[in-house]
Order: sequence, then C-alpha cells, then structure tokens
Amino acid sequence: MVMVKVSAPGKLMLLGDHAVVHGRPCLVTAVNHRMSVELAGRKDNRIALCAPDVGLDGYEIDIADLTKEHPKGARFVLTAIKNFFEKHDKSSGLEVRTRSDFSAEFGFGSSSAVTVCTIKALAELFGLKLTNKELFDLAYKTVLDIQGVGSGFDVAAAVWGGTLWFVTGGKEIRPLKVAGLPLVVGYTGVKADTTTLVRMVGERLKREPVLINGIFDRMAALVRAGAADMERGRWTDFGKKMDATQELLAKLGVSSPELNRLISAAREAGAAGAKLSGAGGGDCMIALAPNREEDVKAAIETAGGTVIPVRTGVEGVRTEL
Ligand code: PMV
Repeated sequence: MVMVKVSAPGKLMLLGDHAVVHGRPCLVTAVNHRMSVELAGRKDNRIALCAPDVGLDGYEIDIADLTKEHPKGARFVLTAIKNFFEKHDKSSGLEVRTRSDFSAEFGFGSSSAVTVCTIKALAELFGLKLTNKELFDLAYKTVLDIQGVGSGFDVAAAVWGGTLWFVTGGKEIRPLKVAGLPLVVGYTGVKADTTTLVRMVGERLKREPVLINGIFDRMAALVRAGAADMERGRWTDFGKKMDATQELLAKLGVSSPELNRLISAAREAGAAGAKLSGAGGGDCMIALAPNREEDVKAAIETAGGTVIPVRTGVEGVRTEL
C-alpha cells in the first residue's frame, strides 16, 4: 500500500503580534521543530488516527462521521481531511499517524503545521498538485473552521517556511532574505490560550477603537522598518523594534509576569531586544542576542525559563517519503 509522509515546521512571530489579526502586517519565521503526518489509504470506509503526542491512540471513525464532533487532539487532522474531500471531490478510508518534534505547549503552531501536513499528504496520495497558495487557503479555512479566529501567519510559515512578511488571511505573503537571525527562545512554562487573548483584544478594539488602532498602526510601522533591518542584518536596530513592540503589546494587556521576568532578564544580560512571541499570556518569549547568546540563555534559565534551541528560516512543508 502507498504510504506518504510529509513534515512542516513550527513558527515564531517576530513582530506584529495581534495587529496582524486586524489587517496589519507581521514578520514570522519558521523554526526547525517539525510536525509530521504519515498517511496511507485503506480499502474500507474507516479513518484511523494515531496521534500519541496529543494522547490519541487508535481513534477510529467512519468517513460519514467526519462532520461530527471529535476529541480536541483529532480535530485539525479530521477537519483537514473533510475539507480536502469536499474541495477535491475525493473519498477514501485512511490510516493516519502524526508525530511532533516539539511539545504542543510551546506555542510553536502544532495545530497549523499538522493541518498543512495532512492536506499536503492527501494531495500526494491522490496525485494532485496544489500550489502553495491553494494549500494555504484550504489549511487556513480548516483552522478558521475550528478556532474561528486567527490571521493564518502560522499556516503560512508551515507552508512556505523561511522568514515571511505576512498580512491577514494571506493577502500578502513575501519571503524575506534573512541570514543568521541570532534568536534565543525562552519558554515560560505557562500555556497561553490564543483564542481567548485574540478575542479579548478584539473586544478592546470595539470599545476603544482610536487607542487600539493607534497601537496597531505603530506596530505596523515597526514591522515595515523591521523588515528592512532584518534583510540588512541590522540587529541592534531590529532589537529596538522588538522592545518597542513589547511595550505596545503590554499596553494591549497581553504580556504576563512570567514573560516580563524573562524579557527583563534577557535585556539585562545584553540582548539587543526582547519580546513575547504570539498571543502572549505565556508560551515563549524571544530575544535577539548577537554575540551574547550564551549570556542571554543563562539569564533566561536563571529567571526560571527554559531555553529552547531553534534554527530559524527553515524549509516549509515537504514530502519525506
Ligand atoms: O499564540 P500564537 O503563537 O498562536 O500566536 C498568535 C498570534 C496572534 O497574532 C495573536 C494571532 C494570529 O492569528 O495572528
């Protein structure tokens, strides 16, 4: 039986967090922690999913039940399959196995990456050639079907890889030429609830449109200038944009004591800049530490964080088998 294996990278938001949900640009980089999906057809009308990283071992349904409610760990894969079958007028029993290089707790975008892998693997299985944009659109629809909110930046990072300029819903997706981003990542140990935080910021935007749109516009200006800094390797300047973005995110109310502690520690140890990455509330912070990586890593650990080694700008979704 034909078996297909596909992998896709996780991501880190560099600048533009939250503002990107509301039509502004952001910068995102793909990291070398990958999700993978193995998929094979089967002769009956059953879909069996094995996803040990999220505690699912041998979850099995009929194809006809794809539209029903499923456990959290199965939702992205099964909704991706349903959307693929509907969009491309296909159907088949399937064996699916997912594997993650990283903990779903880090906020590296495991849900988006597994969604992208599933759709890409199905396209391979059925011999369909999808463009990156077609793959993005179907994966983004899948994520929205489940979460209801989100810009799709994580889906774009999983598809294209590299470091991207990205605008809400994939209106603009532009790879940037970035070499050797000296990034240090610190995990707070606290799992963030992205959907709740995105909704909370959305509510504030409704209540205080002038203030919050002003914050988003300043973040967009930092993204524009920061993209140029990154392409020219001006790390000190880019670091200042990270600090300024962090200040604006704190005004939005999405930072947390744990994030603040690790961010301050990184700055005191000589980082050019530091900020939360993503929705805030927990997950990871990032610091830019040209020539000071070891000092900054030690400071983050001393402050109670866990350093997660990453390479940035890695390859997007790819077929492994
Ligand atoms: O928490 P994460 O890493 O999934 O990032 C969320 C980033 C937001 O800008 C807050 C939301 C989004 O979809 O862009």
